[in-house]
Amino acid sequence: MLTEKKHDLCHHIILIGFMGTGKSTVGQRLAEYLQAPFIDLDHEVVYRDGRTIPELFEQEGEGYFRDLESKTLMSCLQSDVPCIMSTGGGAVLRSENCEVMIQKGFVVQLTAELETIVARVAGDSNRPLLQGNASERVQQLMDARAGRYGFAHCQIATDQCDVERIINSILEAYDAYCCATKAAE
Ligand code: S3P
Repeated sequence: MLTEKKHDLCHHIILIGFMGTGKSTVGQRLAEYLQAPFIDLDHEVVYRDGRTIPELFEQEGEGYFRDLESKTLMSCLQSDVPCIMSTGGGAVLRSENCEVMIQKGFVVQLTAELETIVARVAGDSNRPLLQGNASERVQQLMDARAGRYGFAHCQIATDQCDVERIINSILEAYDAYCCATKAAE
């Protein structure tokens, strides 16, 4: 059950993590609970370009998608209205993206074990980087991205937890972060 405690949203809360760690589901639910604007970075990229992610990868290549992803991230985080944002799993691949996320918000890494991720993403045709043998692709990409998500303010495992417990953990860490930033002012 979600706590009754009141939370003042004074910073963006940005969810990062590998594909299939629950960023969109948790972000949406967290935004509803806090009655805050929700931005799903992948949806925003698709909305701005007008093509789906598989179409962008196929027609323009990954570099084009990454440029659009960076531009969209930067412009969304310029807003003074705090929001909940879920990012795509590869948004951490550019260091400038990581810098802006950590400067502008409270960054939460959602994690999950390989088996959990494979079970969640298997058969999903909307993720171009996981086409083919999903288990092999997830393993390769997890190895290639080792350490990329470690800059987050906190890490929360999503394997066995339900969404409400994950949200309570995020808010507990967020409140501690707000107290620490206020004390440092
Ligand atoms: C990607 C993750 C996807 C999406 C794109 C690339 C990645 O988002 O941005 O397919 O490189 O990890 P999700 O993490 O929401 O699946």
